[in-house]
Amino acid sequence: MRAVVQHGTGGPEVLELEDRPEPTRNSGDVLIRTEAIAVPFYETQMRSGQIPAGPAPAVFGHEAAGIVLDADDPALLGKRVVTMSFTGGAYAEVVAASQYSLVPDGITAEQAVAAAVPASVALGLMDAANVKAGETVLVEAVSGAIGGYLARLAERNGARVVATAGQGKADIDHDDPDWRQQVPEGIDVVFEAIGGPRAAELTAKLAFFGRILAFGMLSGELPVFSVADLIPRGLTLIGFGGPDAYGKRVAAVRAEALGLVADGTLTPVLDRAYPLADVAAAHARVESREGTGKVVLVP
Ligand SMILES: NC(=O)c1ccc[n+]([C@@H]2O[C@H](COP(=O)([O-])OP(=O)(O)OC[C@H]3O[C@@H](n4cnc5c(N)ncnc54)[C@H](OP(=O)(O)O)[C@@H]3O)[C@@H](O)[C@H]2O)c1
Repeated sequence: MRAVVQHGTGGPEVLELEDRPEPTRNSGDVLIRTEAIAVPFYETQMRSGQIPAGPAPAVFGHEAAGIVLDADDPALLGKRVVTMSFTGGAYAEVVAASQYSLVPDGITAEQAVAAAVPASVALGLMDAANVKAGETVLVEAVSGAIGGYLARLAERNGARVVATAGQGKADIDHDDPDWRQQVPEGIDVVFEAIGGPRAAELTAKLAFFGRILAFGMLSGELPVFSVADLIPRGLTLIGFGGPDAYGKRVAAVRAEALGLVADGTLTPVLDRAYPLADVAAAHARVESREGTGKVVLVP
């Protein structure tokens, strides 16, 4: 099969299209012929070495959708599923997956990969933040997949959304180094995706007993907060991510997330599709930050 292999860290050229043996399936896994593979921003950071990736050389990629070729349960054969792996292997024509969800009828493979992980992360974040009607939430990087779904879910809950994005895509431009000064006071919940040493400036904008959900590091650095930042306003800081604590809760709401796409509550936004051979162009597109919506690879 054709697969994209990561050779060390660096620019898009460290990703090479190669012929590789098809993966074998363990009991409980499904074997999938991929139809669409997501290229989320965090993968460009893994490729460049900004955040840790697994050992190289190895087939790269984490989020794919496709048709089941082999499974323990014969009823799964021919069904469309979407999968997320913490250990790579998704940029390939065939993928073996232990975690997968059935894609509801009427949802394309591209839409499935644009929704399955980010929409379920957004649902998990909303649950952890316990956003209530009438509250004001700050959604950082609303132009990203998770941010877009968070804004929709928060509005559906009756919350008011204040949002940031780059290049004029939202009221607050998060490429302005002083953007945190533009955030209005009285924010009840911050969905903190950007991170970095200046994240604590936001605590001055939070209402008493506000919550900060730290879940991303789009700037390349984790957010920095100290207890002294939290005490004066009685703030709660919640770390959200990884495969175990919240990761298990996120996996548990994946079917619900896909159901919200199927019933029209959430709308996946697609930017561009590239053939597997053009993986370097796909990574460059994500890093350019010129588009809005998900970049996908189509084998
Ligand atoms: N905790 C978890 O469970 C979990 C799970 C998955 C992902 N994540 C993290 O969540 C974050 C968002 O993921 P996503 O899937 O929504 O991303 P995505 O759809 O790939 O979009 C990335 C967005 O990030 C923005 N961005 C890129 N570089 C930035 C920077 N230096 N400063 C500010 N914004 C920047 C871009 O917006 P503009 O072009 O408008 O600037 C782009 O729209 C990432 O950090 C990812 O690692 C966390």
